[in-house]
Amino acid sequence: MKQDMIVILDLGSEKNTDIARKVRSLGVYSEIHPHDISPEKLSILPNIKGIIINGGKNNVVEGVKIDVNHGIYEAGYPLLAVNHESAKCDRKIDRWPETDEEIKDILKSFVFDTCQAEANWNMKSFIADQVELIRRQVGDKKVLLALSGGVDSSVVAALLIKAIGKQLVCVHVNHGLMRKGESESVIEVFKNQLEANLIYVDASERFLKKLENVSDPEQKRKIIGAEFIRVFEEEARKLEGIDFLAQGTIYPDIVESGTKTAQVVKSHHNVGGLPEDLNFSLVEPLYHLFKDEVRACGLELGLPESMVYRQPFPGPGLGVRCLGAITKERLEAVRESDAILREEFAKAGLDKKVWQYFTVVPDFKSVGVKDGARSFQYPVIIRAVNTVDAMTADIAQIDWPVLLRITDRILKEVPHVNRVCYDISPKPPATIEWE
Ligand code: XMP
Repeated sequence: MKQDMIVILDLGSEKNTDIARKVRSLGVYSEIHPHDISPEKLSILPNIKGIIINGGKNNVVEGVKIDVNHGIYEAGYPLLAVNHESAKCDRKIDRWPETDEEIKDILKSFVFDTCQAEANWNMKSFIADQVELIRRQVGDKKVLLALSGGVDSSVVAALLIKAIGKQLVCVHVNHGLMRKGESESVIEVFKNQLEANLIYVDASERFLKKLENVSDPEQKRKIIGAEFIRVFEEEARKLEGIDFLAQGTIYPDIVESGTKTAQVVKSHHNVGGLPEDLNFSLVEPLYHLFKDEVRACGLELGLPESMVYRQPFPGPGLGVRCLGAITKERLEAVRESDAILREEFAKAGLDKKVWQYFTVVPDFKSVGVKDGARSFQYPVIIRAVNTVDAMTADIAQIDWPVLLRITDRILKEVPHVNRVCYDISPKPPATIEWE
């Protein structure tokens, strides 16, 4: 391992992730660990140059004020204590200052002057380290990965291909609810360009059959999720000699799942789902990366920008954008209108400016006129939103000429559609998706 590391001990500060990111932005790798980690456990971590004891207002757990394992005071690491009455520290401050600049100054002086750390954290060294770690963990065994084509699973795949080549078996399940061209691009990039060991499973008909006449959104989600696991499991059972399962777990998944001091923001769904008798060990090479670092890693590994900067796409895919009970006709209308929207947004340079944009087709028709005759067809609803964390969202104010061009194309090119609407509702009270 080449990179130096600063460890942040989580004593209930809300700034743990912010501080970790700031240390990394100085070019020094940083990880957050529980407040009571033992010196023995710390000593296993490579190249620790210093420790930040990061106290904060959530420092009382179950009525007891938490403290560090006092052994770390004797372990010989340079220590910076924030808002914490610790015994022997090289530096203490009452609290982090207000501005980012002031915080960075404190970190710079601690990291480089006190700890003498080297700024040697970058994507090249991360990838080199991970390749070595993966090879050490996996040996000559095989690793299985569900490759959806999303950013995280794509970057994991590229990293594992670099580390162990054909020992990685990727399974791409097309549930029939993918966007236009999406499965094709997964095959093009991974099978054709990176020469991955890729199994493509077209399970479209199977999913659509299960979803027939199901109109409740939660029920639809459950069916899609459960069916996905079933298909993946069937593929896994067909394969022999697989010992590992790779997952695109990233740092926010861990942090948001709740540390000892933080409230659970949302539970982490990446893990689990497969029956225990399959008995895989996990390989999670992106475990310590933030989303922007995952993207940088993907670019460094040579993945196309369109894949690395892909907008978020829900697991249940177009299934929750074809409202109510899914029909082939309306699913096709969602897929085709979404493709037109994406194409026109890219042409207008909006694909890099708008956080998420898609179309929705409801399960009712409206009256119109087409070719001089009365028509009774579906509307397409355009949704385009900007947000930081998806908890709240504002609508993107798209220029009329762009909207009119998209509308014109949808009405001409997408069958069974006679009306286009633009959803201008913020979240809350609306949600980003319609279901
Ligand atoms: P809402 O509709 O809750 O969406 O405002 C917030 C973000 O979450 C995405 N989303 C999902 N992602 N499975 C997912 O993986 C889902 O069932 C799901 N539902 C919503 C949505 O696209 C938006 O980015």
